Amino acid sequence: MPVAIITGASKGLGRALGAALAGRGWDLVLDARTAGVLAETAEELAAYGTRVEALPGDVTDAGHRAELVAAARKLGGVDLLVNNASALGAEPLVRLEELGLEGLRRALEVNVVAALGLVQEALPLLRAAGEGAVVGVSSDAAAEAYETWGGYGASKAALDHLSAVLGVEEPGLRVWAVDPGDMGTDLYTAAVPEDDDPRPAPAEVVPAFLRLLDERPASGRYAASDLLEGR
Ligand SMILES: NC(=O)c1ccc[n+]([C@@H]2O[C@H](COP(=O)([O-])OP(=O)(O)OC[C@H]3O[C@@H](n4cnc5c(N)ncnc54)[C@H](OP(=O)(O)O)[C@@H]3O)[C@@H](O)[C@H]2O)c1
Repeated sequence: MPVAIITGASKGLGRALGAALAGRGWDLVLDARTAGVLAETAEELAAYGTRVEALPGDVTDAGHRAELVAAARKLGGVDLLVNNASALGAEPLVRLEELGLEGLRRALEVNVVAALGLVQEALPLLRAAGEGAVVGVSSDAAAEAYETWGGYGASKAALDHLSAVLGVEEPGLRVWAVDPGDMGTDLYTAAVPEDDDPRPAPAEVVPAFLRLLDERPASGRYAASDLLEGR
């Protein structure tokens, strides 16, 4: 069975993607910092009958990243790495003039440095997989200039660029940066608490990711809204 590592998989998009992959028979290695929530999610996903390793930890911890890859190795390798865990840098988001530099450092550490660290750790197994793929979960804030989204958006733009270069450096892999579009999740509420307009559930976006896995288009940046057209 193929094996996926999904970071930030206790809730939101990571959990919805994990459920879809488990439903397709994938074995999973999942993480999140809050152990109890992660354990509940892992139990739910294991009900699909696949193997689910849930390791609580912070993606910025190099030892934890090594544990994630070691767990995947035991399951047979790494066919897919999804760098999904994310930090906003300020909750709620603030204009750049107010953005604490520690918050910006945290966003860069979680969204960029840790993502690359996990790629580096997993690369030998991804290369060995034959059809290995890396997904960096991006945001339209990486490409558009939205007031208050500057620090987070800059970190996602950096992740996009790392993904683009990785795609060039690793022609044997697929490396996709994916903008999922707005979703009604805790992250969105933390970012913009006063915005209570209804937003799509993460599960509605998951078919975009499945399309990438099914069709394996060239490495590059994709918007879920485009991938969902006609699905
Ligand atoms: N929601 C949106 O509108 C939207 C739009 C564009 C892009 N995105 C992107 O979509 C991805 C998923 O976000 P979401 O909206 O699904 O968020 P979410 O529901 O808040 O889930 C975030 C997940 O990441 C985990 N996490 C956060 N920091 C972590 C860390 N340092 N180490 C390990 N796990 C960590 C969280 O659990 P713990 O807190 O327990 O660690 C949780 O499992 C993110 O990359 C986000 O930037 C979201």
